Amino acid sequence: MIRSRNSITHGGLSVAEETVISTEHLTKIFEKGRRREVVALDDVNVEIGRGEVFGLLGPNGAGKTTLIRVLVGLLTPTSGKAYVLGKDVVENIDYIRPRVALLPQEAGAYERLTARENLVYYGGLYGIPNDELQRRADSLLEIVGLTEKQDYQVKGFSGGMKRKVLVARALIVEPEIVFLDEPTTGIDTIGARLVRNLLKKLSSERKQTIILTTHDLNEVSELCHRVGILNNGRLVAVGKPSELEMKFKAANLEEVFTGLVTGEGVYKE
Ligand SMILES: Nc1ncnc2c1ncn2[C@@H]1O[C@H](COP(=O)(O)OP(=O)(O)OP(=O)(O)O)[C@@H](O)[C@H]1O
Ligand SMILES: [Mg+2]
Repeated sequence: MIRSRNSITHGGLSVAEETVISTEHLTKIFEKGRRREVVALDDVNVEIGRGEVFGLLGPNGAGKTTLIRVLVGLLTPTSGKAYVLGKDVVENIDYIRPRVALLPQEAGAYERLTARENLVYYGGLYGIPNDELQRRADSLLEIVGLTEKQDYQVKGFSGGMKRKVLVARALIVEPEIVFLDEPTTGIDTIGARLVRNLLKKLSSERKQTIILTTHDLNEVSELCHRVGILNNGRLVAVGKPSELEMKFKAANLEEVFTGLVTGEGVYKE
């Protein structure tokens, strides 16, 4: 039950031909002991289309990682619904899992494996044939600039180098949807640019859908077709960066973001 673009109502989806992710009143509450709870997602309604690069923005603790974890089946919603590739994430996670890949925010690479082995081992878990994996690994290692280090154990790598391995590891699957939780955090300027270029290419040429979180608003402006801004678990804005700037009469995305999150500024919808 993948819906056509005509049914899309949230935030002016335009590059997409079909919806691959949608949530309906999605809510996640963490119980924190007696009578204490955190509403990490609060009635979130969003739709994301195939081939979109969708940026999730929000201050620390806004709910970005929680949303990703619900969409890949690592957390169960408290109420509401989430659909990925037309399937309910609670009921059909076995259908969804092989078709998506995740770079977790706090991921560890396999420290004892080499960079190349990390990619090939992970891809093997998805049942991708070895010769195909070797080909993809060559290309990804080249793109993230790790070709020369590919046969070294990851445990000796710097933080940014490990992050590059993890980005490549998620992408080797060539999934229909890839969730990247802060992919460029810790990666140097040149490396981050290479990663962004790769993500753009995967979206435009392969129609892969990319959901990423970042705190870098320049990255968002450059890379994302649309963004969703979360604050205290609520999705307070969704749209193209340029549309949001117009809608909130802001000079740039930073002004939109700051205004929505802190209440500073004068704009009203
Ligand atoms: N497993 C958990 N148990 C209890 N509370 C949690 C859990 N995971 C997240 N939370 C809480 O849910 C809220 C949202 O957290 P989340 O990690 O989704 O934020 P985030 O937007 O990804 O933040 P950051 O930018 O720091 O990564 C926070 O208040 C957090 O403390
Ligand atoms: Mg997070």
